[in-house]
Amino acid sequence: APAAAETANAVIQAPAAPAVSKDVTILYGSQTGNAQRLSQKAGKTLESKGFNVTVSAMSDFKPNNLKKVQNLLIVVSTHGEGDPPDNAITFHEFLHGKRAPKLDELRFSVLSLGDSSYEFFCQTGKEFDQRLEELGGERIVPRVDCDLDFDEPAAEWINSVVNGLSEASSAAAAASTPAAASAPAAAEFEYSRTNPFHAEVLESINLNGRGSNKETRHLEISLEGSGLVYKPGDSLGIYPQNDPKLVDELIAALGWNPDETITINKQGDIRSLRNALLSHYEITVLTKPLLEKIAQLTGIDELHELISDSEKVKAYIHGRDLLDVVQQFGPFGVSPQAFADVLRKMPARLYSIASSLEANPEEVHITIGAVRYNANGRDRNGVCSILCAERLEPGDTLPVYIQHNDNFKLPENPETPVIMIGPGTGVAPFRSFMQEREESGAEGNAWMFFGDQHFVTDFLYQTEWQKWLESGVLTKMDVAFSRDKAEKVYVQHRMQENSKELFEWLEQGAAVYVCGDEKNMAHDVHNTLIDIVEKEGSMSREQAEQYVADMQQQKRYQRDVY
Ligand code: 2AM
Repeated sequence: APAAAETANAVIQAPAAPAVSKDVTILYGSQTGNAQRLSQKAGKTLESKGFNVTVSAMSDFKPNNLKKVQNLLIVVSTHGEGDPPDNAITFHEFLHGKRAPKLDELRFSVLSLGDSSYEFFCQTGKEFDQRLEELGGERIVPRVDCDLDFDEPAAEWINSVVNGLSEASSAAAAASTPAAASAPAAAEFEYSRTNPFHAEVLESINLNGRGSNKETRHLEISLEGSGLVYKPGDSLGIYPQNDPKLVDELIAALGWNPDETITINKQGDIRSLRNALLSHYEITVLTKPLLEKIAQLTGIDELHELISDSEKVKAYIHGRDLLDVVQQFGPFGVSPQAFADVLRKMPARLYSIASSLEANPEEVHITIGAVRYNANGRDRNGVCSILCAERLEPGDTLPVYIQHNDNFKLPENPETPVIMIGPGTGVAPFRSFMQEREESGAEGNAWMFFGDQHFVTDFLYQTEWQKWLESGVLTKMDVAFSRDKAEKVYVQHRMQENSKELFEWLEQGAAVYVCGDEKNMAHDVHNTLIDIVEKEGSMSREQAEQYVADMQQQKRYQRDVY
């Protein structure tokens, strides 16, 4: 048989170059689910081309297996000050540690997700990319760094990876599967991030009492007719409109006609300048890349000077927007189209869902903190939160989609106890958890930590918590009102006061959930959790850290932080 002859032949000849493997491992590190979805998409595409694909969260991957991997794709996002997502931390540490293996046989490529308004844009992806090279890996295709509008560059990366792998494998392949004429996945009709549903607002209530420093909006939105479904822990994406007043000032400062038309995308859709700036472009966030593009476009010397100094740029973009740039450096002698072409597309805002679909069929509720501040001599507003607080009325519609989040889910076993820590608007997903557990009759214990400034005006959803305590859906609630007494009390202080009992819950297998502010609260709560384990479990600091890391690995410690 020809096959045998070939084999025999091969044996006689000098050893051939190692066949390029058809096995591909895709590892993702994902906080909000985008990197996970892109990994799955890349996996499907590669499978359709005859590759054997394994897609896995970095946290579910055994680092010892890395030596066996020949083709590795990494899809990872970056958070806060250049930090990896929670489910990437352990693998990231392993790879950067002394125990990382030599990877001379490895071929790899990295897709990184990020937000160019942060200093450490795509940092985690860059680190993986560099480290894999240091360990001996060879790039299949260069890393691609994506900004918020990641769909196109991510799709291009997937394509070039597929081509890179296919070329290599067909060059080496004896038994190559003919590349299945890839039927472009029939775009099922479904509402999504790229095709949002225009949902009617049913109700909008300010949850704070008179005299509060805060305004927290409770929004009830209809999903009727959308087919959209969600689970507790998922988020709602909203595409907001910019403030019309700001848009008009911007157009006036540019000296342009608001009715002039421009093309807003590669598909050639046309809008008036005013409409485009209202709905299609981001005008309230400055990034270094944006300033660079404007400097290049306009050739203004002062702008070039500004962007040549990183520290100055950092200071400048903080608390300023596009109107400030135009007022200070304009007018720009360029066309509205050329100007629009350098702007970022309006990104959606994600809000943790505050309702259970079981308890509210065809509805979704969210909890939005109104963002208002004064900076550089002007009052400034959060785009989406102030739209919702000031300009949105019941009956209006909002373009929305569901952002599924596998990394913030109630335990599968309804008897598993849950500990929920959610000060401020971080309370939202826990209202959803309670509604869901009430609806399903879950038996497990539940403990809520809530905090805000003042008891009288800021106890969000107070009567609902009381009701759940009475009915037993909630076992225990501790609250920390930070500005009622001279001394600040925060949720982590309440955790400390209850450290013995909290550790008992952990030992009984409780799952811990944290939602809300990342930089201060979630960071302090994390350290408090380790403190408690160290003290009550009589462990060393290292052991306590490992205990908490193990919880994270077992999905018994999940965070939805922003
Ligand atoms: P503060 O604004 O009075 O300092 C919700 O916003 C609550 O979180 C408020 O009570 C706020 O307190 C509190 N908060 C601020 N920083 C925090 C931190 N590092 N840890 C926990 N809670 C914090």
